[in-house]
Amino acid sequence: MNRNLAMEFVRVTEMAAIASARLMGRGDEKAADQAAVDAMRAMLDSVECRGEVVIGEGERDEAPMLYIGEKVGSGNGAQLEIALDPLEGTTICANGMPNAISVMAIGEKGNLLHAPDIYMDKIAVGPQCKGVVDILKTPTENLKRIAEVKSCRIQDLTAIVLDRPRHENLIKEIRDAGARIYLIRDGDVSAAISTVNPDSGVDVLFGIGGAPEGVIAAAALRCMGGDFQGILKPRTDEDIERAKKMGVADISKVFQIDELAKGNVMFVATGVTDGSFLDGVRFKPWGAETHSIVMRSESGTIRHIQAEHRFDLKPRY
Ligand code: FBP
Repeated sequence: MNRNLAMEFVRVTEMAAIASARLMGRGDEKAADQAAVDAMRAMLDSVECRGEVVIGEGERDEAPMLYIGEKVGSGNGAQLEIALDPLEGTTICANGMPNAISVMAIGEKGNLLHAPDIYMDKIAVGPQCKGVVDILKTPTENLKRIAEVKSCRIQDLTAIVLDRPRHENLIKEIRDAGARIYLIRDGDVSAAISTVNPDSGVDVLFGIGGAPEGVIAAAALRCMGGDFQGILKPRTDEDIERAKKMGVADISKVFQIDELAKGNVMFVATGVTDGSFLDGVRFKPWGAETHSIVMRSESGTIRHIQAEHRFDLKPRY
């Protein structure tokens, strides 16, 4: 994959972030999401590639834009698979809360899991704990292993978990084991990434979130040297059908990080609201400032890009 492509894709998330950030805190989730989708769709075709959306806004019949299978890009250049979420954390953005991002993961053809839009049980850790955790073990056992590798007590560890009723037992177990918990309202892509950032104070992500977000997070952690495992959690027969339709034969399979995102992958994200690893969009009299991250698994390079966008010179904003 041409390394310069990553810099092209970040323009796409910048544009989507600016569009949705305009609607931050205005209580309208649909409008914020739509603004991000429209902006991302418009910008994507300027990227020199033959891209296909493998994770997007939904099936063709439910999403008019950025649907699964949609061809994007200029139509010339490398064949790529794209997993995207124009606004990861629609509720967060609509309520002006932290950690909403616009995000894309890009892989060569056949390298990203075509995850159905159902739930996935996840565990994510930073590089120090790569190969140490096992999603089939209990949270208590995983916390013990993490504490051992980090030479600390379980009481010194912090787990990040989506605040959902389905996590009642998980939260109880983590508390009983003695670890601290950071409960989040939404946004488990940012949460998974926070396990890699030593400044976040987060050691491990546990719990069930969206499977598409799992693939995107796995791509990010591949680039950063972290670890991620996931098991699909269908709730209905229809969920199982969806998974089968997307090529998942064994519904109880443990997906390792390089089965979710294999080969050379790129990850780009731009902050919409302020968050643990990206600042949100700041509007200025002359335009807007954005903060993005661009990563490639091949080189392991992580670029933080702070950009100033002059609206008088970019009428599309
Ligand atoms: P959206 O961007 O679609 O709102 O997703 C936010 C999110 O919190 C994800 O980060 C997470 O994987 C998923 O929703 C959890 O789903 P649910 O809200 O149904 O528990």
